[in-house]
Amino acid sequence: MADAMAQRRIDPIALRRAFGTFVTGVTVITTRDCDGNPRGMTANSFTSVSLDPPLLLVCVGKAAASFPAFNETQSFAVNFLHEGQVETSSVFASKAADKFQSVNHDRAHTGAPILTDSLTWFDCTVHNRIEAGDHIILIGQVQAFGTSPSAPLGFCRGRYASVKDPLPAGWMASQDMIIGYLVEAGNRILLRTDGKGSWVLPTARRRKADSQLVLDGGEALTLVPENTFLYSVFDVADSDPGYLVYRAELSRESAEAALPDGHAFFSLDALPYERIATHELRAMLRRYARERQDKRFGIYIDTGDGGRVAMIDGQSQSWTQAASE
Ligand SMILES: Cc1cc2nc3c(=O)[nH]c(=O)nc-3n(C[C@H](O)[C@H](O)[C@H](O)COP(=O)(O)O)c2cc1C
Repeated sequence: MADAMAQRRIDPIALRRAFGTFVTGVTVITTRDCDGNPRGMTANSFTSVSLDPPLLLVCVGKAAASFPAFNETQSFAVNFLHEGQVETSSVFASKAADKFQSVNHDRAHTGAPILTDSLTWFDCTVHNRIEAGDHIILIGQVQAFGTSPSAPLGFCRGRYASVKDPLPAGWMASQDMIIGYLVEAGNRILLRTDGKGSWVLPTARRRKADSQLVLDGGEALTLVPENTFLYSVFDVADSDPGYLVYRAELSRESAEAALPDGHAFFSLDALPYERIATHELRAMLRRYARERQDKRFGIYIDTGDGGRVAMIDGQSQSWTQAASE
């Protein structure tokens, strides 16, 4: 009784308008329903919550068609949109049945759909669900995330807004690179365990194409030096350095010798995609397996518009030979 008296009548339309004066970014939250179908909606109720443990939250309306999926799921993803994604925001704010037809998506850690093109993504397990009026507060524990240097999409007073100068000078660019190697032998690729149940690329300090490749663990592999070329340049997360990935071919002796600890070969048509540590590495390995069949490779460079691929054929030639032609 006392509560009812204390609760003053608040006009919901005026309240929504007042809430809308708060400037936010725009996200698409995604999950899978009990049949494994991707579900998602536009949401600007994102809040970062905690660094240790890494927690975030979003508020999901109980009237949304995808509410049951978010209310039952054990995992979900939050994809921040960049300034070029107004259309994506509109699609995911609609009731369209086929929202995921308009975007590329992939799995990272939990299996929740990660939009391939986004400003930043967080792949989360559900930490807690709290009842809150006509919404639930969905608290996620971040299991994996990635970001890009694009400009964010903003939202205020019911309209999209642009955010000026979002990237401080030197941000990301100042970081070192991880040098990864796609080492091939026959139709197999060499991968290294990350010690946490996933596979990553072997890494090395040295970029120079040579017959000796000394891996970060200290083990040496012998390569066919003329078959090493740059394959991909990309960023995974703002806390990580970027990746420079070279494609290389193992010499016959190394291919037949015992492998360094924690390394294993995987056939190109049976790569363990579900256990590749990051979404970016997985996408790159998928592309490599595809291109390997045609012996035509693309060099990928991460750019603001989702990246670019330049095609080359599988054979490299010496600089002196190329220069004299
Ligand atoms: C910019 C923007 C932000 C939104 N934020 C939220 C939100 O935080 N939570 C929510 O439940 N709905 C939010 N919505 C509304 C949902 O996107 C909308 O109801 C959508 O139709 C839900 O999709 P569904 O019914 O297919 O699940 C937002 C819409 C827009 C355009």
